[in-house]
Amino acid sequence: MSCTIGAPLSEAGGVTITGFDLSTPLSPNRLEQIRDAFRVHHVVVFPEQVLSREQQFAFIANFGEVERHGARNAQPKRYAAAHVISNLDKDGNPVDRSTSPVSNYRWHTDKGYYRMPPMLTALYAVELPPRGGDTEFANTAMGYAALPEATKRRIEGLRVVFYWGAGARQPGTSPRSPAEAREHPPVDHPLVRTHPETGRKALYLGNHASHILGMPEAEGRALLDKLLEHTTQPQFVYTHRWRIGDLVMWDNRCLLHRAVANYDMGRHRRVLHRSVVRGTVPY
Ligand SMILES: [Fe+2]
Repeated sequence: MSCTIGAPLSEAGGVTITGFDLSTPLSPNRLEQIRDAFRVHHVVVFPEQVLSREQQFAFIANFGEVERHGARNAQPKRYAAAHVISNLDKDGNPVDRSTSPVSNYRWHTDKGYYRMPPMLTALYAVELPPRGGDTEFANTAMGYAALPEATKRRIEGLRVVFYWGAGARQPGTSPRSPAEAREHPPVDHPLVRTHPETGRKALYLGNHASHILGMPEAEGRALLDKLLEHTTQPQFVYTHRWRIGDLVMWDNRCLLHRAVANYDMGRHRRVLHRSVVRGTVPY
């Protein structure tokens, strides 16, 4: 089977690779082609795949250590790696969670509140609404590059405090309880991080970013809001419109992403399988 790497899907990133059956082991040569495409395009789309969770795990493990999920619940271990994300409640009925302040419908980078946040996330589309349910990706390396030089100088060396649920805090609300802080201790990362493979600088922020270390919280938050608004402008965004069987993997080190609530999520099912590859400490 020959593979085809398509034209870029947008200025901001994205490329489609066809002709690979990801359910079978790939040669080192083909894996290198995929790694190259990932480095250059940040979002790689493999359409028309048929993958069990185990096969998804095996493919994604080619890119690093796949993080385990579900350790604290009763899922069988073999399903721990590719876990289900959906808009379904425990009875399997669709529910609308788009307004939750910690939801995936806000711009975020996966697990930015980890000391070593994941470098890669992959989603495989299992069930989709008839239309919509898109995912948007914002290229934070392009966003950084387009900043005025004065802003680049101003933000150089700043560190962002991340913690789970930071996006849920509204101005004027009470600080987190000690129990919350214990469960999700804050971490700080550089606001401008360097991509370990390309050397390109990119903004690192999003829904779990709280404030700037050493800066009054309101001021830091305002700066983060402004930079987020800047780097999520349409020219920096690729919108993925899902089809069943798409396996999409993206680079969390230079992208923000969010799900788009452009379907009736109280009515239609949307189910994807997710795998996450461990990254390194951002610098
Ligand atoms: Fe996410």
